[in-house]
Amino acid sequence: MHLPDYKEARSRTKKEYRRIDFKQDKTISNKYRGMKYFLKTYGCQMNEHDSENIEALLVNLGFTKVLDYNLADLVLLNTCSIRENAHNKAFGMLGRLKHLKGERPELIIGLCGCMAQEASVVQEILNDYKFVNFVFGTHNLYQLPNILDKAIKENKQQIEVFSREGDLVEGLPVIRANKYKAFVNIIYGCDKFCTYCIVPYTRGRERSRRREDIINEVKLLIEDGYQEVTLLGQNVNAYGKDLYDNYNLGDLLEEIALLNIPRIRFMTSHPWDFTDKMIDVIGKYSNIMPSVHLPVQSGSSKILKLMGRRYTKESYLELFHKIKDTVPGVSISTDIIVGFPGEDEEDFRETLSLAEECKYDNAFTFIFSEREGTPACKLVDNTPPEVKEERLQRLNQVVNKYFLENNKKLEGEVLKVLVEGVSLKKNMYYGYSETNKLINFTSEKEIEAGEIVNVKIKSAKTWSLDGEIV
Ligand code: 5AD
Ligand code: SF4
Repeated sequence: MHLPDYKEARSRTKKEYRRIDFKQDKTISNKYRGMKYFLKTYGCQMNEHDSENIEALLVNLGFTKVLDYNLADLVLLNTCSIRENAHNKAFGMLGRLKHLKGERPELIIGLCGCMAQEASVVQEILNDYKFVNFVFGTHNLYQLPNILDKAIKENKQQIEVFSREGDLVEGLPVIRANKYKAFVNIIYGCDKFCTYCIVPYTRGRERSRRREDIINEVKLLIEDGYQEVTLLGQNVNAYGKDLYDNYNLGDLLEEIALLNIPRIRFMTSHPWDFTDKMIDVIGKYSNIMPSVHLPVQSGSSKILKLMGRRYTKESYLELFHKIKDTVPGVSISTDIIVGFPGEDEEDFRETLSLAEECKYDNAFTFIFSEREGTPACKLVDNTPPEVKEERLQRLNQVVNKYFLENNKKLEGEVLKVLVEGVSLKKNMYYGYSETNKLINFTSEKEIEAGEIVNVKIKSAKTWSLDGEIV
């Protein structure tokens, strides 16, 4: 049994990690043929992509997928720790599974992902959720086949969570959720330690994949007909720092752009690591999508300091405008937290004024959620929950106003849309523009998912645009 430990998770070493190739344990391939799995994924794209690996590992063991957990022999929850409600959702699901396990004791239940890296969660599972058969963490996902096999063979709870990252495993099998758009990890972990954030504990230190491994993966995706890759990381702008003296995200983006895949995206960017070279490269290549997710978190320099964000309102705005001025037609989206400890009305108004100035194309807004073990827990928080709720609503009103205003400017324009399929609710085709806007559109002729088509925009809404193919 390996239990998680935050102290160890927080420590960072300069030691080089080993890059190893995944080896399938052939002795258990197809051992569970005929059994069915249900996988529930919470949280961000990183987790979604991990789930694409998990699915392939399970299929190699012989499992087939079901979409109703009542029909499954194995239920696996890939969890998220970022805010309390993500936590609550996973524990709510465990409650329902306890009931199901009462009816079907042979049901196998597993938990993985970020919550598995939290010592308090694992302790709770040991004490109160003894029916959970196995738990593994984000650093040892590749061991899933053997952990699951052991849990079934020995009929004993398996808890295998490494607090610190070990090897960087290449060549994991993958079953991608989409045939035209693919996620490609370029960097794992985060070293920024923003004071509210649990990610540096659950995902470990920053570890870049070798550039040749990334390029090879993208080349294979192009051969398979993929139209779009999204380069993924908690902070993609730190790419390469741990491996190379002189090769960063700007260089990687350029190298991938020259491979001629139609669309390249990347997320998420911390403002701290954004270099001029990156901005120039994004502006230079038409296949690097003009769409940047640039979390600001707060518009008050006082709160940014308490958050440990390493920039001020002024330096953020300078970067924001540099990107806007250099990349034609760029859309910028953000994340904002309200109700951080110490945020008063004046600080909050600075966030509102920043949102007014930036006129974001999209914004994800949250109320601060205390995460056990992070430094922000120790700060005094005097703001009542109803005031935080009210701030969130006031902020949402401002950001929503600009989503609509920006979209209205696109009425009458022709946008390139990567088609996803037909929306059953609207009976229209749908897809995403280069700036990542959801477009619903009509077409007389039949179109295939994965095509890139021109759509004339007829009417704008807050979160989507309607148009027709031209
Ligand atoms: N409380 C609220 N929001 C948070 N985020 C990260 N940690 C917390 C927290 N403790 C938000 C940040 C981040 C996004 C992914 O989630 O805005 O950019
Ligand atoms: Fe969390 Fe900050 Fe790292 Fe983003 S940059 S994952 S908010 S610690």
